[in-house]
Amino acid sequence: MIAIGCDHGGYALKQEIMAHLDKRGLEYKDFGCYSEESVDYPIYGKAVADAIISGECERGILICGTGIGISVTANKIKGIRAALCTDCFCAEATRTHNDANILALGARVTGPGLAIKILDTFLDTEFSNDPRHVRRLEMMHAIEMEQ
Ligand code: RB5
Repeated sequence: MIAIGCDHGGYALKQEIMAHLDKRGLEYKDFGCYSEESVDYPIYGKAVADAIISGECERGILICGTGIGISVTANKIKGIRAALCTDCFCAEATRTHNDANILALGARVTGPGLAIKILDTFLDTEFSNDPRHVRRLEMMHAIEMEQ
């Protein structure tokens, strides 16, 4: 199950992404927002992050105007690795290297055609399990646990 959330800046792109997930037959849960009325992105960043940490969803997609505020929020939650991607190279690398569990997109930065290619790359790429990347993930986890 994929968790998806956005603020008003990401609402239109979220509609396109959900239509694409429907076409691919992938299940998702929409954590809002549900219109273009101005809202506060931390609400939706936290809701999607919580759904991943609880095990309800395996991966998440977060969208705001830039992708920054909503990904910064999600990264406050222990265990979340939210990656803001503006190209397919980063989407692939953040899965193989960082085992990112949330893809963040900026709807005012990345057009819908590219956003969907980035999304497909993110969803279709597995973590490499390379020992050096596993070691770095463990180091990130240790830093989190010190907080
Ligand atoms: C909302 O206007 C905008 O600040 C938000 O979508 C996002 O870009 C914040 O990082």
